[in-house]
Amino acid sequence: MMVPSHNNIIPKSFLLVAFVLLFTGLSFGLIGALQYVMPGILKDGFSFQKVRPLHVSSVVFWIIFGAIGTVLTYLQEHGTAKNYSHSLLKLQFVIFVITVAAILISYLTGNFGGREYWEFPPYLAIPLIAGWLLFLINFIRSVSSFKNQPVYFWMWLTGIFFFLFTFLESYLWIFPFFAENIIKDMTIQWKSYGSMVGSWNMLIYGSGIFLMDKISGSKDYSKSKMAFGLYFLGLFNLMFNWGHHIYTLPTAAFVKYISYAVSMTELFIFGKIIYDWKSSITTAQKYFNRQSYMFMVAADAWVFLTLSLAICMSVPAINLYTHGTHITVAHTMGATIGINSMLLFAFASDILTAPSSKFIRIWFWIINISLFVFWISLIIAGVYKSIWQMSAVQQPFGNMMRGLHPFFVIFFISGIVLATGLVAVSVLMIKRSFVRATASRNDLIANVQ
Ligand code: HEM
Repeated sequence: MMVPSHNNIIPKSFLLVAFVLLFTGLSFGLIGALQYVMPGILKDGFSFQKVRPLHVSSVVFWIIFGAIGTVLTYLQEHGTAKNYSHSLLKLQFVIFVITVAAILISYLTGNFGGREYWEFPPYLAIPLIAGWLLFLINFIRSVSSFKNQPVYFWMWLTGIFFFLFTFLESYLWIFPFFAENIIKDMTIQWKSYGSMVGSWNMLIYGSGIFLMDKISGSKDYSKSKMAFGLYFLGLFNLMFNWGHHIYTLPTAAFVKYISYAVSMTELFIFGKIIYDWKSSITTAQKYFNRQSYMFMVAADAWVFLTLSLAICMSVPAINLYTHGTHITVAHTMGATIGINSMLLFAFASDILTAPSSKFIRIWFWIINISLFVFWISLIIAGVYKSIWQMSAVQQPFGNMMRGLHPFFVIFFISGIVLATGLVAVSVLMIKRSFVRATASRNDLIANVQ
């Protein structure tokens, strides 16, 4: 369904700001990786304690802004967004942009006060909650009927709702009742983070299903029993599979057993990917020439790799080793770059209607190969560190870090290639989309004259 272009300004603005945040995040990521290779460099003005939150918050907001822009656009294309309030949407955008700018400035000026991943002063969470509430209100207002909606609609709605819920939950530590007991506090903290990622995945995977429908021109899958079955499995995991985050905490054993059992239901999704592999290859060959589809295929391959690592990490005996090592970082970055970012590129390519380009295709391969090297170097560094952590005869920390140096160098170099590729693809997509939009506007003016 064609959408009047003025309705698309705010959703597209969300996408454009998302790209700016990606560039900011990549710059800080590279500085952080340089600090792995040359410990202590830039320590005075830009210590790792400052660079890490600057990197992590920028890239997390790249994903969140990208997901919001995509859901708002696809909701209009889906045809339910006629009741949107544009002033609410504008307000939501302004609140988010100002708050994220304030968050990055607070880090730059050394003003912290929050917890890991949300290290900014807690009062900045208030406008984020307000902005997210506006998103939820606008989404619900836009719906004329809940009947007979496809699976992606439910994924968007539950994703928006659970993000708000888990974000609020991650701030329970500000109340003494929760903060007084460290075990209770940490359990809630890690539970909320695990589920929050599941919530933004609902927004992104839902958009992925919408795009698959759009490319294939049929709604058969998004209304099928299998799609709803997988959706409920994902929702179940979102709510209960966070146990592997707290294996090292002395909480009640049954909580860990239940969540371990729930994590293993993901094996079903894993099996399904393998089962569908052959037919997905045939489909990929059919549509691979479409730029957006190409990024979706890459995300599919990264789901497979990330899930393989995640399933290993959910085995308690293995988790004991991997906890606190670079394997966890490999898992997080593999998922946020390989799955989330690849899908966001697929959506951006579709929404910005960036024409296919040979250069984007070349960079696509460079990005994926460098990401694989980047990911493997972190895993190997993590294996070394876990052996060191668990060994009976303790070697000095410095010796262990020196042993990791070659892997950090590979991580840094592949990171430079990866970051260059991500920037090149983003710039090419934005530029080609602007060129195309200007050309069609000129055509329109010429026709009117
Ligand atoms: C779209 C691109 C990227 C995304 C979405 C991303 C995401 C993340 C996330 C979520 C973390 C937190 C990991 C954790 O706590 O487990 C992280 C950490 C980090 N990332 Fe990235 N990243 C990206 C690109 C890069 C690049 C290109 C580099 C540079 C080579 C880089 C270097 C780092 C470093 C050094 C850390 C800190 C790891 C630590 O705490 O030891 N990232 N990244």
